[in-house]
Amino acid sequence: MQETYINQLSKFENNEVVLKGWNANRRDSKGLVFLTLRDGTGYVQCVVDVNIVGEQTFEEAKRLSLESSFSVTGKVVKDERQFGGYEIQATALTVIAVAEEYPIGKKEHGPDFLLNHRHLWLRSKRQWAIMRVRNTIIFAIHEFFQNKGFVQMDAPIFTGNACEGTTNLFETDYFGDPAYLSQSGQLYGESMAMAQGLIYTFGPTFRAEKSKTRRHLTEFWMIEPEMAFYDLKMDMDLIEEFIRHVVSKVLDKCKIELQTLERDTTYLQKVLEPFIRMKYEEAVDIIKGEKTVNGKTTIQVLEEDLAALKAEIAVKEKEIEERETKITSGTLNKGETNFNRNKIDTLKNEIADLMEKTQNIPVWLNSAKNFERGNDFGGSDETVLTRMFGQPIMVYNWPQAVKAFYMKEDETDKGYAKGVDLLAPEGYGEVVGGGERETDIEKLKQKIVEHDLPMEAFEWYLDLRKYGNVPHSGFGLGLERLVTWTCGLQHVRESIPFPRFYGRLTP
Ligand code: 4AD
Ligand code: MG
Repeated sequence: MQETYINQLSKFENNEVVLKGWNANRRDSKGLVFLTLRDGTGYVQCVVDVNIVGEQTFEEAKRLSLESSFSVTGKVVKDERQFGGYEIQATALTVIAVAEEYPIGKKEHGPDFLLNHRHLWLRSKRQWAIMRVRNTIIFAIHEFFQNKGFVQMDAPIFTGNACEGTTNLFETDYFGDPAYLSQSGQLYGESMAMAQGLIYTFGPTFRAEKSKTRRHLTEFWMIEPEMAFYDLKMDMDLIEEFIRHVVSKVLDKCKIELQTLERDTTYLQKVLEPFIRMKYEEAVDIIKGEKTVNGKTTIQVLEEDLAALKAEIAVKEKEIEERETKITSGTLNKGETNFNRNKIDTLKNEIADLMEKTQNIPVWLNSAKNFERGNDFGGSDETVLTRMFGQPIMVYNWPQAVKAFYMKEDETDKGYAKGVDLLAPEGYGEVVGGGERETDIEKLKQKIVEHDLPMEAFEWYLDLRKYGNVPHSGFGLGLERLVTWTCGLQHVRESIPFPRFYGRLTP
C-alpha cells in the first residue's frame, strides 16, 4: 500500500493509499463520518463508514476535532463533485494528535484576530492557496531570469547609505555606528552588473512606512534585475516580458488556487496583450480628464461606474424587501425562513461592499480633477488611470523631482527622468519601479547634494562611473504587490507568510 499526497491521487484511482494530515472539517451522520483531510498539497473528503472500518475505528474518527492530525488508509474513488476530483473510502484510520478547541472557526473573524493567529491562520484554505501562488511566482521569477542567463546575487541587508530617500529608513546600531536596513539592493546590483553583465537580486527590503495602507509593508521581498548596456526602452521590454511570463505561469499552474480564491481572471489574462506605454504627462492629461480614452474622460467613466453601483445596490435592496415580505407573510416553513434569512445577510454584506465603493469614487474623482501636474501619483491616481484600460500600464519619463537621485535625465526631454512605473489594473497600482541610471558623474554628484545625501557614503557607487562607465538600466518588482494582484486580495498583508507593517511585529 502506497503512502502518498493528495495532489498525487490521480495516479491511484481505485487503489488503496495512506494519507497523513489534519482534519479541516468533520460532519457526522448515522453510521458515517465525513472528514476533510488536508495534507498541505490539497484537500480530500474521507468517508468513514462504520460497516467498513468497524465500531472501534469509527469511534476514533469521531474524536477528531478541528485540526486534529491523523492518518487514513482507503480507496481512491473518482468523484467530479469533490474539490480536487477524488474521495477516499476509508478502511483504516489512526489518530495522531487530538487538537484542543481550535480558535479559528467558520464564523467571520476580524483582521486583527486573524493576524494575531497568523501561525494558525496559514492553515485556512484561502491562505493555503495564496502561499502556493506565491511559491509559483517565486519559481517563475527565477526560471525567467535564469533562462536568460542572468546571475542571481545577494545584496547586503545592513547598509551605510540610503538608496530610496532618507524618510523611511530603519536605523540600527552597528557597533556604535548607524547602519540602515536595506531599502533596495539596486546600488549593489549596479556594481555586480558591471562584473556579470546581467544580474538580479531576490531579497528582503525594508521601509519604515508609518502608515497602514493596503499596499505598504515595512518588510517586503524585492526582485531587482540590473542590466549593463540596456536603455529605458529595453528595460520596459524586459519588464513586459517578465510580468507576462510570471502571470502566465500562475494562470497555468495555479488553477485550483485561483478557483479557491474565487479570482476572476479576466484582467489577468490581459497580460498576454501588449502593455500600454505612455509618458507621465499623457497619464496626467488622462487622470485630470483633459484627454479621453476610447472617447471618454476619467470623469465620465467614474460617474458611470457610480451610477451602475447605485443601480446594483437598488436591485439588492429590492430583493431584501421581497424576501422580508415572504418571511413575515407566515407562509414559509422553518427551513425556507432560514434560507431567506441567510440570503438577506449575504445581500446586506454585498450592499456594504458596494456602498464602500460608492464612497470611494467621489474621493477618486475629486483627487483626479485636482491632481497637480508635477506630483508623484498617489494610490487613487493610479486607480483612476488603470480604470481606463484593461491591461497593465507603463508610465515613463517622470518629473525628475519626484524620482530617486540615480535616475537618468532624458537628454531630449529636459527635466524628465528616464524612470518607469508599471501599474497593475483593477486598482492594484504600482508593482514595478525602475529605469535607466544616470551615467554622468557630475549630474549624479549634484543630485546627491540636492537630495541631501552624504557624499562620502556614495564614493564607492561613483567609482562605477569612473571605471568603464556604460549605459545600464534595471527595475524592482515588489513580490507581495504581485501576489496581491494575481490573487485579487484586498490587502497586501495576506500575501506574505508573516507580514510586517506599521503596528504589527508578531507572531
Ligand atoms: O519603486 P521602488 O521604491 O524602487 C526601488 O526601490 C528601485 N531601487 C528599484 C530598482 O530600480 N532596482 O520599489 C520597487 C517596488 C515597488 O514598485 C513596489 O512594488 C515595491 O517595490 N514596494 C513595496 N512593496 C510593499 N511595501 C512597500 N512599502 C513597498 N515599497 C516599494
Ligand atoms: Mg516606486
